[in-house]
Amino acid sequence: KLVVLGSLALGSLLYLVTRVGSLDRLQPTCPLDDTAGQIPLRSLQSKRGLPLHDLRPANATPPPRQHRGGRLLRTPARQQLPRAIIVGVRKGGTRALLEMLNLHPAVVKASQEVHFFDNDQNYARGIDWYRGKMPFSFPHQITIEKSPAYFITEEVPERIFKMNSSIKLLVIVREPTTRAVSDYTQVLEGKERKNKTYRRFEELAVDGATCEVNTKYKAVRTSIYAKHLERWLHFFPAEQLHVVDGDRLIADPLPELRSVERFLELPARIGRYNLYFNATRGFYCLRFSVVFNKCLAGSKGRTHPDVDASVVDKLRRFFHPFNQKFYQITGRTFDWP
Ligand code: A3P
Repeated sequence: KLVVLGSLALGSLLYLVTRVGSLDRLQPTCPLDDTAGQIPLRSLQSKRGLPLHDLRPANATPPPRQHRGGRLLRTPARQQLPRAIIVGVRKGGTRALLEMLNLHPAVVKASQEVHFFDNDQNYARGIDWYRGKMPFSFPHQITIEKSPAYFITEEVPERIFKMNSSIKLLVIVREPTTRAVSDYTQVLEGKERKNKTYRRFEELAVDGATCEVNTKYKAVRTSIYAKHLERWLHFFPAEQLHVVDGDRLIADPLPELRSVERFLELPARIGRYNLYFNATRGFYCLRFSVVFNKCLAGSKGRTHPDVDASVVDKLRRFFHPFNQKFYQITGRTFDWP
């Protein structure tokens, strides 16, 4: 009896094994994924599932091939040169803009500032070094990096043009005097951390001898946006340059992000859900999914020192004509005094 039962069980097992094997052979082979050039409307959640950017250093080993619905995509992730760069302005809200754009499933950010085009030593390392600093991404995704010093560094527009003359450039600006004070505050904090003293903003921004605005002070020069922008326009047509209002990005980020999505020719995928106001921080923070939220680091949104009202007034008068020029060039008006 035992022998009969045993052989029956063995027979059934063999039948099942061959049956499953033949079913397996009947399955269609994995179709080639044909998403190159398109932007698949994947959910933000699924982007979180990708082993990209944030989760690895830029030059780490590539992630495994992407699976979707059990199918293996044949196009591997690779390090791609950026198709868009946030070129500045320092303290304009460059980090917030990069992080918020990174909410989009078709955008992959370089987490670190790369400083390839503004640093001669890095530039001499060549384009493959630069590519090696980029995160892994799929062909339908846009890599974006931000290095705020690009905006004010003379050599940069030509160097970027030589890499890719049709690249998309983003510039985020804030009211020039506020930006200058923010710039000062960052440097002041650095000095304090090293137990060093630093002069007051008023002493740096105004020339004590002439009582004129000190145009040699870098924080002042950086805020003369029109002058820097003109240099970029020697190389790039205005259509390739998009200006983001950094003050609006603070107060109500979504409309600014929508217009960047349009500029980058991406479908609108960043929504109200992805941004929530955090009263403790006093800023909008990012929501990637039900479980993954983040606010920017504490170094963003510092308390500025009080600045003498007469100096603020002097600076605003000084920037006024440059601002008018900036509005004229960009075709966009800002609520600056
Ligand atoms: P302050 O520190 O002067 O407030 P950058 O990233 O270019 O250095 O810009 C820093 C500025 O980004 C901060 O300047 C802050 O005001 C602004 N910012 C814009 N959106 C922000 C956000 N959601 N969270 C924190 N800071 C934000």
